[in-house]
Amino acid sequence: MTYKTDSKKILEFLTRVTEEAGKRILTYSKGNLGVTLKDNRPGAIDIVTDADRASEDFILDAINREFPEHDILTEERSIELKGSPWLWFVDPLDGTVNFAHGYPMFSVSLALMESGVLVAGMVHDPLKKESFYAIKNSGAFLNGNPIHVSGAARLPESILSTGFPYDKAYSPDNNIAEFSRVLLRVQGIRRGGSAALDLAYVSCGRLDGFWEQKLKPWDMAAGMLLVQEAGGCVSDESGNRTDPYTQFIVATNGIIHDLLLQAIKSDS
Ligand code: IPD
Ligand code: CA
Ligand code: CA
Repeated sequence: MTYKTDSKKILEFLTRVTEEAGKRILTYSKGNLGVTLKDNRPGAIDIVTDADRASEDFILDAINREFPEHDILTEERSIELKGSPWLWFVDPLDGTVNFAHGYPMFSVSLALMESGVLVAGMVHDPLKKESFYAIKNSGAFLNGNPIHVSGAARLPESILSTGFPYDKAYSPDNNIAEFSRVLLRVQGIRRGGSAALDLAYVSCGRLDGFWEQKLKPWDMAAGMLLVQEAGGCVSDESGNRTDPYTQFIVATNGIIHDLLLQAIKSDS
């Protein structure tokens, strides 16, 4: 299938907008952040900061100027959909908890879907000045250089990443059982704190796999396309092909995919 999206124009737009959003995020730091909880329950941990909002304002303004007919799904506000074939997924700051603590792992993630198919995505790390991007059927790149998933073939030689949902204290579906099972079988597990970067790292072979549940579409959209275009595999927990609305994502180099699915669900 061919898509109407002008990939050169989109790539220029993604590069310009994610870099500028990253610069705006970096004007804030641990000491000058307005931090607000998104949830009133005791022990709630999901926060939003002035940096998330400044980045989001900038990105939405840029999309609305350049592509006024496109729809937008963004983290910090709800926008009525117009029924456009084009839909943007915006995570203005992925890794907010890291950022709020001065832990240097966070990103800006932007992806575009055309008629239900992801056609372009970028994950930008403003500290490392790394831009991971993918265009449907054209491959995946890091700062202009082609990238590919790793060649790890066994779990004991694999390094993975995962994450835990914000409702982990309230819900039994908190990834702790899955984490314990997988941990015993692999070389290592990291908890990066930015799902978009976790997926980008799978796409360039720094990680061999990643899984998480209860992520939102803006966390995953760009990273999913990156992994697929870099030769990897993305599925739900049953191994079925999936989309950014999935409640459970498993993304690997493809070679260890079935081994990881098995380890996530069973001890044997
Ligand atoms: C979070 C990060 C984190 C993941 C959380 C996400 P946010 O996004 O991607 O790694 O474990 O589930 O919500 O809130 O920093 O944009
Ligand atoms: Ca996020
Ligand atoms: Ca976010």
